[in-house]
Amino acid sequence: MRYDSITDAIGGTPLLRIDPAVTGLRTIDLYAKLELLNPFGSVKDRAAWNMTRAALPEAVRRGDTLVELSSGNTAKALALIAGMHGLPFRSVTNRMKVPEVKDLLLLLGAEIEELPGRAECLDPTDTDDPLTRIHRMLSEAESGYLHTDQYYNPLNVEAHLTGTGPEIVRDLDGRAPDHFIACVGTAGSSTGVAAVLRAHNPAVQVLGLVAHKSDFIPGIRTIDEVHEVGLFDPGTYDGIASVTADQAIDGMLTLVRRCGVLAGPTGGGAYYGALRHLRALEAEATGDGPAGSGSTDAGPTGSGERRTAVFIVCDRVESYLGYLRDRRPELFNQPPRPHSVASLTPAELEAARVVDVDAARKWIAEDHPLVVDLRGPFAYAALHIEGSINIVDELFDELLHGGLPFGRRQPVLLACPIGEKSVRYAALLTRMGHQDVRSLAGGIIGWRDAGAPLVRD
Ligand SMILES: Cc1ncc(COP(=O)(O)O)c(C=O)c1O
Repeated sequence: MRYDSITDAIGGTPLLRIDPAVTGLRTIDLYAKLELLNPFGSVKDRAAWNMTRAALPEAVRRGDTLVELSSGNTAKALALIAGMHGLPFRSVTNRMKVPEVKDLLLLLGAEIEELPGRAECLDPTDTDDPLTRIHRMLSEAESGYLHTDQYYNPLNVEAHLTGTGPEIVRDLDGRAPDHFIACVGTAGSSTGVAAVLRAHNPAVQVLGLVAHKSDFIPGIRTIDEVHEVGLFDPGTYDGIASVTADQAIDGMLTLVRRCGVLAGPTGGGAYYGALRHLRALEAEATGDGPAGSGSTDAGPTGSGERRTAVFIVCDRVESYLGYLRDRRPELFNQPPRPHSVASLTPAELEAARVVDVDAARKWIAEDHPLVVDLRGPFAYAALHIEGSINIVDELFDELLHGGLPFGRRQPVLLACPIGEKSVRYAALLTRMGHQDVRSLAGGIIGWRDAGAPLVRD
């Protein structure tokens, strides 16, 4: 194959049948669409190129800056495309949570602007999320920016209507699969592919996968966040299910270690979610409990026809080594981290001490606990509880392993944006022997909404 431009190598990715000996499925062939083999490394190469291709000549003439609200694969692809055309690229994002991706973007020449999101709670007199304000500014004509706007841009979906979807049908000999399973980030890939598959087979079952509530799987949304995405239409999916970060890593390990596919966590999440779903269908259809018991070659309907399912492997594992080391140190020959939030039991969580705003104010006034604000530095600088100290949650997580700046007898009030993270850390510190750690119910947003005082740096 010979190309004049690397962008000509985008798309045309393989559809790989996963060995039934690995899946344990008896009646369904499961295929992986290997989007990790795109030249910039992910499914987002397609969207990035489709959103810029037509606009680039004019952007080059004007000397625009390419800009996108992305800290991941879209930013990576756009940084490369911008570089090829001699344009600057700026990534505007909430806190970058995957350090390798940030380093890679810097290496590619991207400018990175990190801002807190709405959930971080900034200035109460400013009801606008800074990202929303930036979004509005970028969309103005003559702004000097080419804003690709991936969360709203129909060209994102179109990339998969014209590329990914038809490729799947072609590789299945002109037939759509019976099941399609995809993780949802911007919803571009799942929306585009689902539309193509439905046109070929109206009965196709589409399962969208999101990260489990307050779990973090880089690249996709949680069930609460997905509704904020402009391209997300619940009607696209026959079902939405969630996977935990742990399940995504388990799926990823199977793909990496048993299938020779260097998938990242969302590919693993899609595999895990697909298999869980398909095994349940097989068990239901054959009425014999979990897959693996009994044996028949009949389809789940008993028709004798084998069924097919396709999931997407969005990107590659190499960018997530730090993410994986944090969650599974044993994979890297490191000792397990006993003080991890993931190891909390429901009973420990239940037992964590939570105080509402009034009780917290009284406690602060009377006993002067150390107030630890777990938000990002930008949000903390904008407004915080007087006398509090700022330890951003990722750092707090690190400090749990031997470096906390307070002793076990020190009373501590933990505050995060909405009280979800702080309650976990309160439970963990209690398990670690800290005598009086409480979590602020509703977090800084709750504090603000109750009209309690906040100060600015
Ligand atoms: C790693 C990863 N997986 C999955 C997705 C989901 O793709 P989409 O944005 O098309 O929903 C993304 C999107 O950014 C991603 O970066």
